[in-house]
Amino acid sequence: MLVFAHRGASGHEPENTLLAIEQALVMQVDAIEVDVRLSDGELIVIHDRSVNKTTNGNGKINKLSFKQIRELDAGKGQQVPTLEEVLATINGQCHLNIELKADRTVLPVLDLLEKAVSKYHFNYNQFLISSFNHHLLFEIKSINPELNIGALTASCPLTYAAFAEHLNAYSVHIDIDFVNQEFVTDAHQRGLKVFVYTVDDEDDISEMHYLGVDGIFTNYPTKSLVKIAHLKGVPVLPS
Ligand code: G3P
Ligand code: MG
Repeated sequence: MLVFAHRGASGHEPENTLLAIEQALVMQVDAIEVDVRLSDGELIVIHDRSVNKTTNGNGKINKLSFKQIRELDAGKGQQVPTLEEVLATINGQCHLNIELKADRTVLPVLDLLEKAVSKYHFNYNQFLISSFNHHLLFEIKSINPELNIGALTASCPLTYAAFAEHLNAYSVHIDIDFVNQEFVTDAHQRGLKVFVYTVDDEDDISEMHYLGVDGIFTNYPTKSLVKIAHLKGVPVLPS
């Protein structure tokens, strides 16, 4: 199972900050996941629509200027980073899952990925773009069919992973509350990888292993890597 540092190593450092990204790199994760929004045309890395929960400020992103957001403390003196700062920090050292949280992010993200390949030592196959907004994923595939996309779901649909196959996705990303053997088997039959969020508990990691999932998003990468190493060689449950 691959380990994605969820919002960076967010169990150790403030989520979606460069500190959390750097910590995830030290932990030698397979991939890092970050949440992306737009502020004054700039791509910024923050989960919520407002700055209230993760900074010392207040207000909605779309009511604040980029300059105002950059003046906030996102924890331990960190700024809310730009996506370009995240790309420069990772510098091609691991895979990056960019989760699009807002409309109109597709074109600027695609432009920035080109820059990351030419300037920050990434290959295109190190990127995985995901979203709960499947229209954004459709838009990406129609512009660049080669780019890998991950279709997010917080449910177990009647037709299981069919929606992700229709999007020509590389992977389906499902909430741990809804993943089950039927879903994993269906996704695999459709040629899709299954990545599950958010998996921090050791028993949950074992359960994901037995289900045969391909990767987990975790806030505690080292703990998860150690647990997964212990599970190596333990057979998955027959489907
Ligand atoms: O991308 C996996 C996971 O991050 C999706 O949910 O709310 O943590 O962005 P959320
Ligand atoms: Mg996310």
